[in-house]
This record gives sequence, structure tokens and C-alpha cells, in this order.
Amino acid sequence: MDKTMTRRAFLALGGSLGAAMMGGCKGNDAGEQPTAEGSAQAEAAGAGIDYLALVNKQHKLPDNWEDEVEIVSLTNSEDWDVDVEAKAYEAYLALKEDLEAEGVYIDLDSAYRSVAEQQRIVDEFTEKYGEEYVKLYVAVPGYSEHHTGLALDLFLIIDGKGVYLNEDMVQYPEIWEKIHAKLADHGFILRYLPQRKMFTGYSYEPWHIRYLDDVEIAHQITEAGLTFEEYLGEVDPQVAGCEVDYGTSELYTEADIDSALGAVLTEFSGWKGCTLKRFAYAGDEACGADEIAYANELREANMPDLPAFDQVIVFVSDLRSPSAEDAEGTAWEPDTDYTNWSWHLGRTDADGAWQLLTWGLG
Ligand code: DAL
Ligand code: ZN
Repeated sequence: MDKTMTRRAFLALGGSLGAAMMGGCKGNDAGEQPTAEGSAQAEAAGAGIDYLALVNKQHKLPDNWEDEVEIVSLTNSEDWDVDVEAKAYEAYLALKEDLEAEGVYIDLDSAYRSVAEQQRIVDEFTEKYGEEYVKLYVAVPGYSEHHTGLALDLFLIIDGKGVYLNEDMVQYPEIWEKIHAKLADHGFILRYLPQRKMFTGYSYEPWHIRYLDDVEIAHQITEAGLTFEEYLGEVDPQVAGCEVDYGTSELYTEADIDSALGAVLTEFSGWKGCTLKRFAYAGDEACGADEIAYANELREANMPDLPAFDQVIVFVSDLRSPSAEDAEGTAWEPDTDYTNWSWHLGRTDADGAWQLLTWGLG
């Protein structure tokens, strides 16, 4: 199908701009020594907290949480102070024991963090890894799940030695797989799943687990491969459950791909009743010189005031069209699967915003 024609067809469908489906997020885990500063004291309390509370880029720590939560303080094998919610700690100890029976050794790097401690991590990671990394891995203070005390960052002990830097920990996928397989039995979930940044706001963090105090729910979420956001119904039904593949790229960072994806979702949210089933980066070879030339043709025809594009990004997707009721008056064939639906975006340079140029089959 001719791409320009397709775009026109979809303008006729009423594909108006809508609100972005999910906001962005920042976050990263401390791979290093937490300070004792800001530790909550273990006042007897505990029962008052909601173990299914959602804290993410859109939801800050509930008010009064720190008055209710029961925190225990400990010192880990590296002699670092760690604070953690009391029941989560008990469950963690059982998980640790369970794993040791399989020859897998873990420890706690960081769990409860005050807002001040989160700010310290933002500053440290910005200096060490840069702002781009921080956007993908570190929560804005006040919006970190670590403030609950229910989020635990693990580190590995391999041959008796602590492996706690993020870049080192990711080198052991087979060990993480064993750890992840045991989480639900102890009421934990893996919180930031691979290829789910679209829903969680964060890149994959094999070390960050979340205590839910409910083995059944933890199993349900894990077995369905859901993010906590999807389980709680916090993801727009138009995209919930969508399979996402950021692929690998030498042209673009994950943040580049993510911002382009955001521009697509903003458009898609206006396509009433249409659901996204699969969304994938088309690959570097699909984003070469021919595609840039084509993008500039479209730009000249439709957005002549914009400067020339130097970069193009292409996604492929599978969609399900709206029901007969929602499809009425549009060009959609109702209740139909559309496969290999592509999206083309251009931008002037790495600092520019992505412009959605065209979309359609093929
Ligand atoms: N790394 C997680 C997202 C945090 O900073 O809370
Ligand atoms: Zn974490």
C-alpha cells in the first residue's frame, strides 16, 4: 500500500492526537553502598500499609506511608546499612535460603530509601553514568518504589565475592533466571521486566524485586508475564498486553527509540477502539538513506516549515481494528487483525523531537 495514501486514509479515520498513554520515567538502582541517612525507625506499626500500592513515574509515595510502615535495619555482607520493610525482609530471608539450596547466593544492596537518599543516588549516577542512563534507570525522588521499603535491590555473591555494580550484574543472566524463578513463591515479583519500559517507565533491572505479601497474586502476575501496572489496570487498554521489541541498534539508543515510541502512542491513543498487539523497532537497515530521502519528501509535502530530517526511525506493529460500533464512519474493517503495520518518524538531529510522518500497512 502506498504510504502517503495510507496516511491520508488514516487522517480520514479521525486519528486525532490524544494524550500520551503512559508518561515517561526515570529510575535507576543504587548499585552501591547506601548510607544510613534517612533510615526510618522501626516503630511498631506495619499493618497499615497497602502491600499492593503502586509507586511509579505517575504515582508518588502515598501520604503518611512513612508513619505506617515498619522498617527493620540490618547490615549486609559488605557491611553496608540496609533498611527494609519487616515482612518483605522475612520473605527475602526465605527466598535467600531457598536459593542457597541451589547454590545461588544473594544479598541486599538497597531497599527502603528516603527521598534524600534517592536524590543522592540521582546525583551519583548522573555523574557516573550520565543523564541519559539516569532517565532509564533512576526514579525521581518522591516517585521511587524504594520509598515504600517493599522494593529490594539484590546483588550477587559469586565465588564468595560481591557483584553489585549494575554493569557487572547483567553479565549473569543464567543466575538471575534462577532467582526470578523463585520470586513468586515468596510473594515477590520482578518489577522492571525486559522490553516493558513502555509500561513500567524503566529499563530492565534484573536486581529490583517488589514484595506484594501475596503469593497467589505474585504467581498470577509472573505467569501471565505482566507488569505490575498492567495487573493493576493502570495501562491504557489500547496497549495493555502489547508485545514490545526494542531490538538492537547501532543508530539509536534505547532512549531515542523510546521517545519515538512515545510519539506513536500519542497518535495511537486517538484511534478509538483500536488495540496494539505487537510493536517492534524495524532495525537499522530499515532506517537508512532511502528512508531518510522518503521522509524528506513527506516533510516537504506536509511540513515544509520544518528543517530537513537527518534521522529516521521505523517501527512495525500488529493492530486489531475497532469493533463495528467504534469503527462506524471510519475506513477500518471492524474487528480485524492488521499485521505488519509500519510507522515512520523523522527528526533533524539527535536533540530534536521525533515527527510522526506516516503509517500504514507494509
Ligand atoms: N531503579 C528504580 C526505578 C528506582 O530508582 O526506584
Ligand atoms: Zn531498585
